Amino acid sequence: MGIFIILMGVQGAGKGTQARLLSEKYGIPQVSTGDLFRAMKTQDTPLAREVQEIMKRGELISDELTNRIVRERLAQDDAQAGAILDGYPRSQGQAQALDAMLRERGQQVKLVALLELDRHLAIMRAEGRRFSLDKERTYNIYFNPPQYRVAGVWLDDKTKEPLIQREDDYRDAVVRRIDVYFETTRPLIDFYQAQGKLVHVNANQSIEAVSEALIQAVEQHR
Ligand code: AP5
Ligand code: MG
Repeated sequence: MGIFIILMGVQGAGKGTQARLLSEKYGIPQVSTGDLFRAMKTQDTPLAREVQEIMKRGELISDELTNRIVRERLAQDDAQAGAILDGYPRSQGQAQALDAMLRERGQQVKLVALLELDRHLAIMRAEGRRFSLDKERTYNIYFNPPQYRVAGVWLDDKTKEPLIQREDDYRDAVVRRIDVYFETTRPLIDFYQAQGKLVHVNANQSIEAVSEALIQAVEQHR
């Protein structure tokens, strides 16, 4: 039986940060639908362009396309023993599709960790996020800034190159994403609570403390 763990939480709650840590700890891949959609940027097709436009506005991609790319990703060899689902499912349709996908394989969701963070901090976490050019290092200008800032430009500690920002980390898109989360995704809490799979984790602690709380929850559900 695989370990399928869902990380749910408002924008900036730390899903990506924690998914990477859990992935290392349990040797199963991080499957981030946001990353999968951002990877489509290199494709020059009408569908790929439409996806980028929807993301820039902070809206959700259709359930049909999202479920399809997750099904394809989970069919890969490295996801047979489980995955850390980061940002999926985000709607009732996606939650039902995931259950059906896993049922076909004789598997099921083990745990849904809800990373709780208030709206104000969520905005600062997302708006303050910056990456090195190679995306290897993530900073936050409010919470973990890089060492150098020259003429108002934040620089990567390692390469001293200017940091980059995600196209949907500007105020309007961040606020829209947070609204969509509360309207469409948060109602999934009831769906998973009814199945006894939901755990609440306070995301307003250090990255290490959140990670410890998550590992404890996973161990209790194993
Ligand atoms: P996605 O890429 O999933 O973005 P998101 O949900 O908006 O979440 P974020 O990545 O902004 O936040 P996070 O929780 O991962 O936080 P992070 O760890 O980076 O989705 C983007 C778009 O893709 C969507 O808007 C939609 O268009 C589309 N999409 C994706 N999935 C979809 C789906 N299922 N259906 C339909 N459409 C979909 O942390 C944030 C910052 O805080 C960082 O700077 C980090 O360093 C810092 N930080 C993290 N933890 C801490 C801590 N404990 N203390 C201090 N700082 C911290
Ligand atoms: Mg993320």
